[in-house]
Amino acid sequence: MKTIDFKRTVYCGEPRIENVGKEVSVSGWVQRRRDLGQLLFIDLRDRTGILQLAFDENTCSDIFEAATTLRSEFVVCASGTLRERSAKNPQLPTGDIELEVTKLSILSKAETPPFEIEEDSDVNDALLLKYRYLDLRRPDMQKHIALRHRAVKVTRDYFDENGFYEIETPMLTKSTPEGARDYLVPSRVHKGKFYALPQSPQQYKQMLMLAGFDRYMQIARCFRDEDLRADRQPEFTQIDLEMSFVDEEDIIAMNEGYIKRLFDEVLGVKVDLPIQRITFREVMDRFGSDKPDMRFGLELCDISDIVKGCEFKVFSEPVANGGSVRMIYVTGGGSMPRKQIDSLVEYVKTYGARGLAWTKLGEDGSVSSSFSKFLTEEENDSILKRAGAEAGGLILIVADAKDDVVFASLGALRCECARRLELINKDEYKFLWVTEFPLFEYSEEDERFYARHHPFTAPMDEDVEFLESQKDKCRAKAYDLILNGSELGGGSVRINTPEMQTQMFRALGFTDEQAQAQFGHLIEAFKFGAPPHGGIAYGLDRIVMHLAGLNSIRDVIAFPKVQNASELMTACPDAVDDAQLDELGIGVKAE
Ligand code: AMO
Repeated sequence: MKTIDFKRTVYCGEPRIENVGKEVSVSGWVQRRRDLGQLLFIDLRDRTGILQLAFDENTCSDIFEAATTLRSEFVVCASGTLRERSAKNPQLPTGDIELEVTKLSILSKAETPPFEIEEDSDVNDALLLKYRYLDLRRPDMQKHIALRHRAVKVTRDYFDENGFYEIETPMLTKSTPEGARDYLVPSRVHKGKFYALPQSPQQYKQMLMLAGFDRYMQIARCFRDEDLRADRQPEFTQIDLEMSFVDEEDIIAMNEGYIKRLFDEVLGVKVDLPIQRITFREVMDRFGSDKPDMRFGLELCDISDIVKGCEFKVFSEPVANGGSVRMIYVTGGGSMPRKQIDSLVEYVKTYGARGLAWTKLGEDGSVSSSFSKFLTEEENDSILKRAGAEAGGLILIVADAKDDVVFASLGALRCECARRLELINKDEYKFLWVTEFPLFEYSEEDERFYARHHPFTAPMDEDVEFLESQKDKCRAKAYDLILNGSELGGGSVRINTPEMQTQMFRALGFTDEQAQAQFGHLIEAFKFGAPPHGGIAYGLDRIVMHLAGLNSIRDVIAFPKVQNASELMTACPDAVDDAQLDELGIGVKAE
């Protein structure tokens, strides 16, 4: 039987001018064929790059003939001798050489693909995702997935060197109420009962600390049935950690070492330590967001005290009603045409603001303003002075009875202004720890407090007294790591006594019976000796997105879901047989 060659001796992207004269075999996909009559070139592609295969008058006629039949995406193996190219291509790392082919095997033919396999192919997303295996052949996608591998490898190495055990935790778990919506899995054996896919391994990693493993890490798959965004997928991956006998400082120090190592080894970027820390209160006041982009200024400034008694109700009423009036000052923003300012007014409305008040200072000393005529000269002057306003500047003001609306709209507006004025340096990596988060968060819809992080997070020692009576004052031993306006990870020191955990569930409005039914295992476990412990989880997808310089985690996940949570390649979710449903004791209601 004739054997077909398919084994390579080198990858396409590897040979260099020094290797001229060497006999090699390469295997891969045909990128393109250039037929010049007596001369024929094939660009052969594998995951490392492209090598030019050359066929000419010296090539044996069978092989030349076979080469003329090659089409894009055929899979071939070619052997021969490397030689120097007559026309070099400085764009390609292998551009000085080519393979003079003496043997060619066609391993697989290919139909014309629905789009060309090339970098930056301008194709609609649905088509790319339906044929994701073809999309993934593109060199940039290959790079992103390789980068993800590298990041995971560095992560495992770092934590291994620091004494962490990698331990798997279950995928079929108990559904717990707090948090996002669960993905449920019906049980066949226990009809009418359901497992939940884990939103994170939180309770299990705490149990591992109680079990004495001291340091745990896992590259953990997590599932949350929530709305998709550019940095959110229903199925995503965490770098999940937990440590025993530590406080916040130990956890932060261990993690700073990790971030430094990761960015250095993967990108060659040196992260300065320690990473800056700002409390939640301060970060909201200064940036209007708990995940601020620190690559530019445009900080918020409170002017409630200046306008609280003014005649202009748009400013004075929100202050009287418990809200605030805040501004950002945009150096150079005075040159924005009126139309652009109007579009900023519309922009803040999408964040719930009723409007945007502005003052524009021309380079020539002229002033135009949407509100100055309603204020006294003294009030106007105080605002300009507080802004440090100069010719060519722009003041933007939001007033609202709800601070949340002021923060959300000005927080987003400062980013929008930075984008428009091109103040953002894409090569800069600005890390930040946000600390002292509120322990609780009030939901007006449900009229109750929720744990802002999760119900296992410890309150700050000095705030324990507020647990019952002044929940909005109570801060947590919780911290988030932010990079360039994106939350990379979050964690906390945990509660480790049954008393405190019980108190926390009560504070969240659980009866003792409800707490017992949902979390009895944890409360009980704390009775058998629980070490002080804490940890953090990073979104691996988000980290890799930043390392790759991308804007969506979809581009660093091999098989992502689209906006409506379906996966287009295999077309899931999908209906199942009635027999399968019967076995599970499940009936599907008509819409
Ligand atoms: P948290 O819910 O903050 O904490 O999640 C940790 C990190 O996971 C990433 N992340 C996501 N990434 C992609 N898609 C999503 N839908 C998604 N949701 C979260 C974010 C986030 O910072 N158990 C705790 C951690 C702990 O306390 O140790 C937890 O899961 O980058």
